[in-house]
Amino acid sequence: MQTRTLGRHGPDVSALGLGCMGMSAFYGPRDDAESLATIHHALDRGLTLLDTADMYGPYLNEELVGKAIEGRRAQAFIATKFGIVRDPANPQARGVNGRPEYVRASCDASLKRLGIETIDLYYQHRVDPNVPIEETVGAMAELVKAGKVRHLGLSEASGTTLERAYKVHPIAALQSEFSLWTRDPQSNGMLDACRKLGVSLVAYSPLGRGFLTGAIRSPEDFDADDYRRSNPRFIGDNFKRNLLLVDKIKALAADKGCSPAQLALAWVLAQGPEVLAIPGTKRRSRLDENLGALDVQLGASELAAIDAVFPPDAAAGERYAAAMMHMVNV
Ligand SMILES: NC(=O)c1ccc[n+]([C@@H]2O[C@H](COP(=O)([O-])OP(=O)(O)OC[C@H]3O[C@@H](n4cnc5c(N)ncnc54)[C@H](OP(=O)(O)O)[C@@H]3O)[C@@H](O)[C@H]2O)c1
Repeated sequence: MQTRTLGRHGPDVSALGLGCMGMSAFYGPRDDAESLATIHHALDRGLTLLDTADMYGPYLNEELVGKAIEGRRAQAFIATKFGIVRDPANPQARGVNGRPEYVRASCDASLKRLGIETIDLYYQHRVDPNVPIEETVGAMAELVKAGKVRHLGLSEASGTTLERAYKVHPIAALQSEFSLWTRDPQSNGMLDACRKLGVSLVAYSPLGRGFLTGAIRSPEDFDADDYRRSNPRFIGDNFKRNLLLVDKIKALAADKGCSPAQLALAWVLAQGPEVLAIPGTKRRSRLDENLGALDVQLGASELAAIDAVFPPDAAAGERYAAAMMHMVNV
């Protein structure tokens, strides 16, 4: 398994992790048996980095990951997150909480659900605009001291926030959406800040929530409660325009002799040695396909050819609807 060093001092983790979110939330019906088999298959293949969060489900995904790693703790590197607060009475609503007492309580609850003694990488899921980052990261640093957490991460934090956080405690990873159709980290200072500080950039939704694989041909492909039905890039005219871009990626992938999913993942990994990606799937067959991206090397002319047909900012529609976009710290 190809590995990349997490943060300045490691450890080394698999260059491609497994995003577990869709197994329990947002992307259609659950199939826990196949999801568990997929996590086991990932570990069998040497993939170590498993990504979850307390708000996926909520809670169900951490429980699923906890079940999957029973008896296999040593093979897994567990990343989870706190800070996005769900309201059981209103499933669409989202709050953010970065207060120290919430950090401590969330960590204890995640440890319990995961059935482990230490979280390998603990992220703040979204920066709380009402709590200085120093206070939140200060509380996270206490968790490291207490042995409950090994490494710290932030998600969707700006480069400036990252620098402030790093002064309180080293940050191993910054997680952000990053893919062919979401290149924000390259233009908003995130990737630069990561490089300066020696922080890994963990690319989430590297397959564009499935769109970049070319497998999604119509919004009608989604279940009625699939989150993507409300995402601007998957709606109406935007969907149609984005499909034209994906068809060009399909053609380039065919020339290269790989699948569009593999091309999309290889593109992310080609953006720099500090970049890791965590594609999500609940199916073993797709996991195998996605790991095949590790064998796809893209040279400068191929990267330029991709840019020519799918330039930065080419995607139609924002990557989140306004309420969620508002929670991104830029
Ligand atoms: N920090 C954050 O705020 C944040 C936000 C979103 C996600 N994440 C993390 O990032 C992970 C990955 O992101 P994501 O799941 O949103 O998006 P993604 O990895 O870009 O795409 C996942 C979707 O693509 C499909 N898929 C995967 N491989 C495929 C293939 N080879 N061919 C066709 N379809 C394929 C999956 O369907 P099947 O499952 O049916 O295969 C799923 O619907 C999540 O699981 C989560 O852990 C973090």
